[in-house]
Amino acid sequence: MKGEIRDDIIVGLDIGTTKTCAVIGSINENNQIEVTGVGTAPSKGLKNGVIVNIDNTASSIAKAIDEAELMAGHEVSSVFVGISGQGIKGENSRGVVAISNRSRTITSVEIKRVIEAAQAIVIPVDREILHVLSKEFSVDDQTGIKDPTGMSGVRLEAEVHIITAQVTTIQNLIKAVDKSGFQCQDIVFNPLASADAVLSRDERDLGVALADIGGGTVELMVYLEGGVSYSKVLSVGGIHVTNDISIGLRTPIESAELIKKKFGCAVLDLVDASETIEVPSVGGRAPRKLFKQELTQIIEPRMTEIMEMIDQELLKSGKRDMLAAGVVLTGGASMLDGCVESAEKVFSMPVRIGVPRDIAGIKDKVATPQYANAVGLLIYGARMSRFRGKARFERSGAGVFSKIKKWLEDYL
Ligand SMILES: Nc1ncnc2c1ncn2[C@@H]1O[C@H](COP(=O)(O)OP(=O)(O)OP(=O)(O)O)[C@@H](O)[C@H]1O
Ligand SMILES: [Mg+2]
Repeated sequence: MKGEIRDDIIVGLDIGTTKTCAVIGSINENNQIEVTGVGTAPSKGLKNGVIVNIDNTASSIAKAIDEAELMAGHEVSSVFVGISGQGIKGENSRGVVAISNRSRTITSVEIKRVIEAAQAIVIPVDREILHVLSKEFSVDDQTGIKDPTGMSGVRLEAEVHIITAQVTTIQNLIKAVDKSGFQCQDIVFNPLASADAVLSRDERDLGVALADIGGGTVELMVYLEGGVSYSKVLSVGGIHVTNDISIGLRTPIESAELIKKKFGCAVLDLVDASETIEVPSVGGRAPRKLFKQELTQIIEPRMTEIMEMIDQELLKSGKRDMLAAGVVLTGGASMLDGCVESAEKVFSMPVRIGVPRDIAGIKDKVATPQYANAVGLLIYGARMSRFRGKARFERSGAGVFSKIKKWLEDYL
């Protein structure tokens, strides 16, 4: 039996290419995020992170939330939902305003004005702003200011990172959540949420790249001096590795997936040359024995290719040489044996696997890279609820996304 809806409850909903995952939680008396329910269901309606079938997506959402509600012991109504896909774009922008009040002192009014000015980049009609993230402020000639409130000056400048998505992608996401019987409390770019779950403040300050390697996407975010300076979604992921195994070993996709998880390794040097594994064949033929190194020879080039694609983006960001805290990998595909070694070979910098941290409750159930996104959405939701107390987006009667000016969220 599920109890009634509680208004202190926050729900993170990660609709991934391979699985949909709902995490329910609240902020406990120690001000920690306490996870009380988790549910997952296979995703059937997505391709490379984007919804291609609303009905199938809606039924995955309903299943995942239902399972999480049962575990938590109560029902939920609205969710913080993640968005992804290579159509999402991140770009840097800046705004400048004069500090015109009598005392020439910066207050929230000036900060709001400068953020609005920074949003004045040309955004095509088919795109919508998802996030405006602050990098730094400058007051007159003084640069590198995190919070200019109370400072005196005549000119205030803001550097921001703006993330936009196609309106249709957002609408399809809202439709799928709606159809499953829930409401979108907010829509969050996936890696921003994953970062909340797995990165430390120190890493963001030092400079770090976060890559969430999922089934059909790699979601990348580069942090420098505490702020986001680059973001990108690539259409590649663990599904490609599985497909390679299926073709290379002539085995069905389902068994290729199992073989990958059980015996897969991303680096040949890590595998004992004498070790053998058993692989099921297609068409009812008897299973075959093969050397584990043969499997690794299929996986290694694909993983190297994925890492090289990430590396290309780091180069494009112009910040590759400034990442003192290296690279943090998360997402299900980062659980592949040898993934860190494969990444370190390509990046030549320290690499670690990011798992959800700083949470209470049933944390053992979610302490894996596969849950980083969903837990991150819960943490993000908790942070936003603390400040706003209510939904950022409200849907109009027609069910469309209403355009509300975005206030700078990480400045809050
Ligand atoms: N132990 C493991 N070893 C290797 N790969 C794994 C392991 N566990 C999960 N994976 C892979 O992780 C991928 C799924 O990861 P994840 O759940 O993060 O993706 P998703 O969120 O559904 O997709 P996306 O983020 O791309 O939309 C699958 O390709 C799966 O094979
Ligand atoms: Mg994912």
